[in-house]
Amino acid sequence: MPTLIVTTRDGEERAVQGQAGLSVMEVIRDNGFDELLALCGGCCSCATCHVHVDPDFADKLPPMSEDEDDLLGSAAERDDTSRLSCQLPFSDALDGLRVRIAAED
Ligand code: FES
Repeated sequence: MPTLIVTTRDGEERAVQGQAGLSVMEVIRDNGFDELLALCGGCCSCATCHVHVDPDFADKLPPMSEDEDDLLGSAAERDDTSRLSCQLPFSDALDGLRVRIAAED
C-alpha cells in the first residue's frame, strides 16, 4: 500500500498507509487524524479537508476543478500548495506524498 506522510497542525509528522482508490481525505480520516473535519464527507462543498501538498507532487495531482477552486477561494490560509484532500484520489503514483493539514478557518 502506498504511504502518505501527514503533518498535523501541531507540526507532528506521521507516515500512514493508505489504500489506493480512497481519497487522500479518507486516508487521513481513517488513520485517526480528527483535526481534518471533512464535514461534507467528500462532496466538495465544505473546504474543511483543506491541505497543503508538497510541491514536488504537484504534477502528479489531478487538475483543480472550478468547484474546488471556488471553495478554496474562501479559505484564509490558501496558497499555491492548497488542495481539498477529498478531491485527490490516492494511488501508488502518490506513494510518499506529503500533506500538511491546513489551519482552521
Ligand atoms: S470533505 Fe468537504 S470539501 Fe472535502
